[in-house]
Amino acid sequence: MSDINKKKMKYSFKNDYSYGCHPNILAALAASNMSAEDGYGFDAYSIEAAALIKKLVGSDPDVFFVSGGTQANLTIISTILRPYESVISASTGHIQVHEAGAIEATGHRIQAVNTPNGKLTVEDIKGQLVLFEEVHTTIPRLVYLSNSTETGTIYLKSELMELHTYCRSVGLLLFLDGARLFSALASRENDITYLDLGRYTDVFYIGGTKAGALLGEAIVINNASLKENFVYNLKQKGALLAKGRILGIQFRELFKDNLFLRIGEYANQMAYELESAILEMGFNFLSNTSTNQIFPILPNRLIAALKENYEFYVWQKIDDHHSAIRLVTCWATEKSRINLFISDLKRLSNSNA
Ligand SMILES: Cc1ncc(COP(=O)(O)O)c(C=O)c1O
Repeated sequence: MSDINKKKMKYSFKNDYSYGCHPNILAALAASNMSAEDGYGFDAYSIEAAALIKKLVGSDPDVFFVSGGTQANLTIISTILRPYESVISASTGHIQVHEAGAIEATGHRIQAVNTPNGKLTVEDIKGQLVLFEEVHTTIPRLVYLSNSTETGTIYLKSELMELHTYCRSVGLLLFLDGARLFSALASRENDITYLDLGRYTDVFYIGGTKAGALLGEAIVINNASLKENFVYNLKQKGALLAKGRILGIQFRELFKDNLFLRIGEYANQMAYELESAILEMGFNFLSNTSTNQIFPILPNRLIAALKENYEFYVWQKIDDHHSAIRLVTCWATEKSRINLFISDLKRLSNSNA
């Protein structure tokens, strides 16, 4: 059997973008195939999708669709910052660890702060402002948050409001990366609404790639001062697609009948089921999450045995005998496969005991 076939037999908890797209989206793409549309975001689908998002956010934001998260981060941050300005991020932030220096390549420094849970606090930001010395350092101008974070945690409304109030008071702008917003908003602990995202951020984006779209992120600009000519930066960075219709159709579908949140609820539910069963077996977790990413700490012997049948990342070494793994669920995760994983884990951990 070829390696590809062997790999195919493994069930994947590796990522929320490992599968194609939600069947409703695939059907909408097929149904739209023969309509002739304008390019660069002026197609009927993008216009309708933007209107659906604007209605949820409540104010009058500008909405643009781009193909990926790094592209969204790059175009937003490079639009906001002047040449000598920097962005503050948690050290686990996607822009800091997983974008091959995309932000730094535009000439901007990232001021990374170590945090226990991937979330920034007002105190973390204050600490970065103290480092600012006249003329000799970059000027912090922007705060970058992700929700949910790279470690599966989420911000509460009170935390977002506090960050927003503080940022306003010291002249910082606030940007929320929503690559996994679908899972954050659907979390049982969440109390943030789209209206809050409109009120308490200057700009945010809604991730489609991990939320059942084939690809695509929707950038939502709330702060009027950031809207002017943003589209030119998109174009210059190669982010404004002639076939923008592909993105528009998908977001129109995601924001029809609440599909976006329903996908989040389903993915989270699958993760909760995995998490409770693993907890019941007595294992600990690297972080306390309430979203579609969980990080159980398992003996390395058990991890090696699970790897025979499952795809997942080994996330962090804990000690010589234990590591944290990352399990991610999504719209495509099958309940029967969750049950199978749990029974495999039970069986292997009993035989390893
Ligand atoms: C928080 C966050 N931002 C952005 C991205 C998207 O990056 P890209 O689509 O460019 O791989 C990810 C993907 O893992 C992410 O977790």
